[in-house]
Parts: sequence; structure tokens; C-alpha cells
Amino acid sequence: RRKLSEKKEKTLGMIKPDGVEKLGQILDEIYKRGFLLTRLRMCCLDRNQAFRFYEEHRDKPFFNALIDYITSGPIIVFEIVNTNAVDNWREAIGPTDPSRARTVAPTSIRAQYGIDVTRNVVHGSDSAASAVRELEFFFPSSGPMLPNTSKGGNCT
Ligand code: TYD
Ligand code: MG
Repeated sequence: RRKLSEKKEKTLGMIKPDGVEKLGQILDEIYKRGFLLTRLRMCCLDRNQAFRFYEEHRDKPFFNALIDYITSGPIIVFEIVNTNAVDNWREAIGPTDPSRARTVAPTSIRAQYGIDVTRNVVHGSDSAASAVRELEFFFPSSGPMLPNTSKGGNCT
């Protein structure tokens, strides 16, 4: 019998464009921490899709840079099913800014592979509610899956 505090939970993880160039190393990090990846796909976001995914940030000063970055190349998204998946994955990726991560969480994925606060190589849902929305975005329970390309050509 699992304790209530160890409830199985789902979250969305993402390897961002610069992370895809270090895919093997980042997958090693995920594997050695024991995360269970239950769904996974590669895709490319167009600007409209990126706007929808990151809509909570639309008024932030970094929004344009974020959209430029996340649409700059292929990404890999995955569903993680684990005990306390949301918090455990956030802990594995580390703080948003890799330079801060290198100080406070040097073994985190962003500390090891992140370049700067925009090119921070991985994403993780920030709450169970965000996880539901973000998983539905990439792995819809009904209706068509977000296409790999909007018109056959986001991935260039
Ligand atoms: P945020 O949700 O605050 O961070 P996290 O990814 O850790 O949940 O921000 C979303 C993304 O926006 C972040 O991963 C990288 C980018 N970003 C910037 O480019 N500059 C910034 O100053 C911040 C806070 C975020
Ligand atoms: Mg966030």
C-alpha cells in the first residue's frame, strides 16, 4: 500500500531545441533518475502553437525570445508517470536560470546542460493542473494530435 504522499502522478517533460542536440546525455540523466516515460514524441511548434503553449507568459518581457527559441528547432515531449512526478521532475531539471542552477543545484539537468535563462534545455509542468493542460496539448485524449508540422513543414 502506497502512502498518500506517494501518489502516482503524471507530468509533461520537454527537451527544448538546444537539448535535442544533447539528447543522449539528457536521456541518460532521465534514465538514471528512474523516470518512467509513458509517451514520447518529437515535433516542431509553429508560432501559433508556441503562443498557446506558453500563453501564461504572453505579457512577460521575455515572451518573444521564448517563442523564437522554442520554435527554432525540433523538441521532444514526454509524459512521465511517477510518484510525485511534478515535483520530482522539477527538482531534476533545476531552477529556470542555468547559472543559478549551477550554484544551488549543480547536478540538475539545467545546471549541466543549460546555456542561459532562455536556452535552458528542458521544461517541466509547474503543477498538477498545468500538467493536465500541457499533456492534453501534446497528447490529446480525443481529437487529432498536434501535427508534427502545421502544413507539412515546421521542422526545417
Ligand atoms: P518560467 O515558467 O518562469 O520558468 P520554468 O520553465 O522554470 O517554469 O518561464 C518559462 C520559460 O521562459 C523559461 O523556461 C525560459 C523562459 N524565460 C526567459 O527566457 N527569461 C526569463 O527571465 C524567465 C523567467 C523565463
Ligand atoms: Mg513554467
